[in-house]
Amino acid sequence: MSMLAFPRRIRDRVQGGLPLAKLTTLRIGGPAQYFVEARTLRDVADTCAAARECGLPLHVLGGGSNLLVCDEGVQGIVLSLHGMKRIQAFGTKVQVQAGANLSALVAACSAAGIAGPQSLAGIPGTVGGALAMNAGGRYGEIADYVASVIWISPEGDLQSLYREEITFGYRSSMLRSGVVIETVIEGTAGEHAQLVARARTVLQEKLAAQPYSEFSAGCTFKNPKGQSAGRYIDQAGCKGLMVGGAKVSDRHGNFIVNRGDAKASDILELMQQVQRRVFEAFGVSLQPEVQIWPGRVLLAA
Ligand code: EPU
Repeated sequence: MSMLAFPRRIRDRVQGGLPLAKLTTLRIGGPAQYFVEARTLRDVADTCAAARECGLPLHVLGGGSNLLVCDEGVQGIVLSLHGMKRIQAFGTKVQVQAGANLSALVAACSAAGIAGPQSLAGIPGTVGGALAMNAGGRYGEIADYVASVIWISPEGDLQSLYREEITFGYRSSMLRSGVVIETVIEGTAGEHAQLVARARTVLQEKLAAQPYSEFSAGCTFKNPKGQSAGRYIDQAGCKGLMVGGAKVSDRHGNFIVNRGDAKASDILELMQQVQRRVFEAFGVSLQPEVQIWPGRVLLAA
């Protein structure tokens, strides 16, 4: 397909063969066939329409912090909203665009005296990615603070959704099937210094337990109900296990780190080894939390 197939309005926004590795926190993966960085709602709408018209798969890139891109790269269009980062507080609410970093949202809430989202401190990624995955941790998930969302639905319609119209699950949400443009986050009134301190405490806890300074995609597997995947992996003796440049972190069993030269195939092979070992030791099938592009089904142990 030639670039000329793209509507004129977004043609100069489209890059062919853009390497994706640098846009992921694992620093792994091949190129996007087409890559678009949107700056406006119109860019997003045009890209969605172009994907539809050209019959190309559309992948939305957030912070790339929960993502494993395969070595061959991705066919179709990868859409980034990194050019859309506006954050605006009013009262106990914040209106934020999907491309803003979650950490910037948390900081803006603290600055504006809005309590709640500090429980999300230290979670990497963008607001759009966090909504698509319902990102969260020990103290809560983003769904707890959502008042409304504007998105382009899977049918291509621009819609505004109230919280009660959005289905969120554990590290999942219906929003993954469309493109989030912006959201309104709602907290309660709080005191600036206390909120900053709260966010710092939550962050420190994460820093103490997780391999923050290494290249990873965060937790690799979902926690089985009421249990910890990290503990299972640890107790199955997987910490330190390596395939090529991929290694199960010595710090937290549910993190697989790229020691610098890992291929996506190393990570996938290591994930399968971990799944197998945990299944043999405990009869538990770990399910990937990390998103794999293009979609790929791992052996269920
Ligand atoms: N544990 C071990 N060995 C390990 C890792 C953990 O024994 O190698 C034990 C810990 O000592 C603790 C228990 O397992 O008793 C739970 O560990 P932790 O508190 O680290 O939390 P987690 O359940 O492993 C979850 C989220 C993280 C989030 C943390 C902290 C999932 C899959 N993981 O981890 O989210 O940062 O809580 O809030 O829900 C992510 O989603 O990418 C992610 C990292």
